[in-house]
This record gives sequence, structure tokens and C-alpha cells, in this order.
Amino acid sequence: MPPLSLVDLQPSAGSFLEDVLSGLGASPKALSPKYFYDARGSRLFEAICELPEYYPTRTELALTRDCAGEIAAAAGAGSLLIEFGSGAGIKTGLLLRALRPAAYVPVDISMDALKDSAGRLASEFPELPVIAVCADYMQPLDLPLEGIAAPRLIYFPGSTIGNLTPAEALVFLQRARALAGSGGAMLVGVDLKKDPQRLHEAYNDAQGVTAEFNLNLLRRINRELAADFDLDRFRHIAFYNAVAGRIEMHLESTCAQTVTVSGRSFAFAAGERLHTENSCKYSVAEFRRLAQSAGYRAEAVWVDAEELFSLHLLRG
Ligand code: AVI
Repeated sequence: MPPLSLVDLQPSAGSFLEDVLSGLGASPKALSPKYFYDARGSRLFEAICELPEYYPTRTELALTRDCAGEIAAAAGAGSLLIEFGSGAGIKTGLLLRALRPAAYVPVDISMDALKDSAGRLASEFPELPVIAVCADYMQPLDLPLEGIAAPRLIYFPGSTIGNLTPAEALVFLQRARALAGSGGAMLVGVDLKKDPQRLHEAYNDAQGVTAEFNLNLLRRINRELAADFDLDRFRHIAFYNAVAGRIEMHLESTCAQTVTVSGRSFAFAAGERLHTENSCKYSVAEFRRLAQSAGYRAEAVWVDAEELFSLHLLRG
């Protein structure tokens, strides 16, 4: 049997209701993208990753496959690999094969996703100790890893860091650096700045899956928070904000309307937007500057031939 252990640090779910009420009461209206991922939202995100227009997933995978040997040589074998996210993807397998870590520690807020992916990886790598930790890696973390002396390598793929503002990303990187400790490192996947048309297409796909993903947030609020959003009266908007260097997603009210959430009413003017996500894009130099402000040394970077995506190795 694979040496798999599960540790539940009981992450607090936070208050969806409180966040929605304050986000809808704010001006401009805004909600956190973390609420996209109910069961249907997670399935829609998986479908996005397969879309012809959505290049990040397949580009990062190919880059990881092409550079796994170099990454392992630079990061150092025998580390304790801590992955932020449940490691469901093929990328993790590629990295585990190349890195041969002393142990693998996936950290995820969803116990179901964690059990599923950690179980799969533990049977694929029967010799590898896997310590799956259910926790919110966006919050300060105290991982139960005292007995393991190996240097730590934190793996944060998928350009999820782009869903934080640069100020939030700075705090997140500082915390990760403290968690990695002395001699520790971080490997981060970061989507690159590029032709705005390419970005526009990636977030406005022809099949409308991204639109459905965005609108699913309202469906979730209706179901879980006794709300009455009429999904036909909102439309998906995604555009590149060149000044901020990010894709912004919004839901735009197509008419003047009032929506009720758990007994509270919120007025939308025609054309008013609810901001649902930022997806920040960084040049290699910009991300290195951000990492350096968090106290890291930018040790290496891998970029695909089309210069769409980057993988940064940062030393703490
Ligand atoms: C999870 N995250 C990195 C995705 C992104 O590209 O920002 C979420 C996403 N939103 C729309 N499409 C994909």
C-alpha cells in the first residue's frame, strides 16, 4: 500500500453570504473569484482548460514536460515538494518523476479533491510518502512536517497567482517564502503578457464556456443563498486592461433591475457591472521584481517558444 496520510487542518469556509452581501453592497460591485469553484464551476474550469483558445494549461504542461530535467537539476533532488492545489494534473506527475522528492505534500481547501488526486498519485508513485493536507494555502499555514529535514520546494502552478492583485501576491509570496524556510525554493507558473487579442480570445471563447463559468457564480448564489438573479439579464464581459496588465471578468446587468439575496435587495443600473475576477499577466522582468520584493532571488526561468507562459524558480 502507498504511504499516504491525510491531515485535516479544518480550513474555515469563510462566509460566502457575508462576502456576497458586502460585495454587492460595494461600489463598484465585486465578488472574489474563489467562489467560482462549486462542483459545476470546477467542471466548467476543467472544460475551459481544454478549449482551443485557452492556451495556459497546455502550454504550461508542455513547458513542464520539456524542462522537467532542467527544473529538477536547478531545484535539487530529494526536496520536500509542497504543492499549493491538489495536484490533479499531469504536470505534478512529470515533476515528481523528475524531482524524486523525499516526500510530496499537496495542500488543498477541498478534502474531496485532495483525497482524489493524492490517492491517484500515491498509487502511481508507491515508494513516495504522500502527506495530503486539507488547508487554505491563501492563509498563513503551519504544516505538520517537523520530522522531515529535506529542503522545501513549494510548487504553485497554473498562474493562480495571477488571480491575486500584485499587492496580495506580494503578501502571498512572503508567506510562502517563510514556509519554505532557509534553503527553500518556490516554483511558480505565471502567465505572460502578450498580444491582447490572444488574451481576449482566451477569456471570450467561441463556445461560451467561460461565459457559463462566469454566470455560474450567480447560479451558485441563487442556490446557496436564496437569491433571485435572472441569468438572462446578465452578460459575461472579459477584456484586457492594459494599464493594470490584467484580464478583467465582469457580469453586466443588461437592464435596470433589483436582485434579492437572503432577503436583502440590491439595485443594478442598466450596464452596471459586477467585477468577478482579475487575471494578472506579468512579463518575466515584472514577476522577478515582484518576487525580489518578497525577498526571493530569481534563480531561473523557463519560457515556451511562443513566449506565452513562464515557470519561475525562486530561491528564498
Ligand atoms: C484559475 N485561473 C488561473 C484562471 C485564469 O486564467 O485566471 C481562471 C479562469 N478564468 C477564466 N478562465 C480561466
